[in-house]
Amino acid sequence: MSVDLTTRYLGLDLQHPLVASSSPLSKNLDGIRRLEDGGASAVVLFSLFEERIRQEEAAQHRLTQVGSESFGEALSYFPAVEGGVGPHAYLELLRKAREAVDVPVIASLNGVTPAGWTDYARSMEEAGADAVELNVFYIPSESGVSGREVEARYVEIVERVRKAVSIPLAVKVGPYFSSMGEMAERFVEAGADGLVLFNRFYQPDLDLDALEIRPDLELSTAGEIRLPLLWIALLRGRLSAGLAATTGVEGGREAAKYLLAGADAVMATSALLRHGPERMGDMVSELEEWMAGKGYASVEEMRGAMSREKAPDPAAFERANYLKALEEYRSPWGPA
Ligand SMILES: Cc1cc2nc3c(=O)[nH]c(=O)nc-3n(C[C@H](O)[C@H](O)[C@H](O)COP(=O)(O)O)c2cc1C
Repeated sequence: MSVDLTTRYLGLDLQHPLVASSSPLSKNLDGIRRLEDGGASAVVLFSLFEERIRQEEAAQHRLTQVGSESFGEALSYFPAVEGGVGPHAYLELLRKAREAVDVPVIASLNGVTPAGWTDYARSMEEAGADAVELNVFYIPSESGVSGREVEARYVEIVERVRKAVSIPLAVKVGPYFSSMGEMAERFVEAGADGLVLFNRFYQPDLDLDALEIRPDLELSTAGEIRLPLLWIALLRGRLSAGLAATTGVEGGREAAKYLLAGADAVMATSALLRHGPERMGDMVSELEEWMAGKGYASVEEMRGAMSREKAPDPAAFERANYLKALEEYRSPWGPA
């Protein structure tokens, strides 16, 4: 049985739903080519960070206006972190990538303040990006900031980037809003053409020997798909925007689950960092095999078939099922 894997995400026609999400694998041209050769239907570049934009702007400013402190305030907002890729090198790589590969190249912009850096989205468009993915990752660690203020900041950043570009815009956020459904609607109203669910929240560990904070990243496991899976299933059909799933895609099975829940595209990073970009091709084959086995002729046919809107038992996504799951849980240690 032949299976039609094509899908549409952010107005882009993709050969299949498996997209390489933002990661160090796209940090140079060779890596981007390997992602395409490995089988990714689109590549999201690693992020250009607001901090790097400010650093480069400040350095340029110092060159022209030695002695001026007008950038002092802006710079003191962020802790100094050396290294990283600045906007100049990023845009150069983006230009070259656009020429080097055939698949869509999505630029990624990552920041937290509603300020001038958002205009860099326009430079990304000019450099040839097929779309921009905006990653907002704000930890309101100071007390006294209300939830509504945090939400307003996210929305304002989306609005600013929307104003800067005419290419499609995706918004990648974490799951920790009081009302994820309302926020999703507000992001779409602010101009998002797609939502990428979910950003994995930065959670440092403590090193008990060195008594230090360990800022390292843990790669995900397939067990982590459940939170994005739930929200994609709940949001499918409720938004006039595409949905991309990110987190926990180890193989074709996770991709199948996300598509059944309602995703238009399914992204992977951890699996590619573990096994190499070539893993992408295996995932596509696994998905195709699973679909053929179940009699699905196309991604279109299966997409959202198990969303809340279409599921035979929508209550399975609700509190009633939570109660049932808790009450039916059995352990060998009892109660009998
Ligand atoms: C080492 C590493 C670097 C990442 N860099 C970025 C980044 O620059 N921008 C971004 O939006 N996401 C970044 N991510 C998040 C991934 O794009 C992805 O959303 C996340 O890892 C969950 O997907 P996964 O379970 O397939 O890894 C990074 C993840 C890892 C592990």
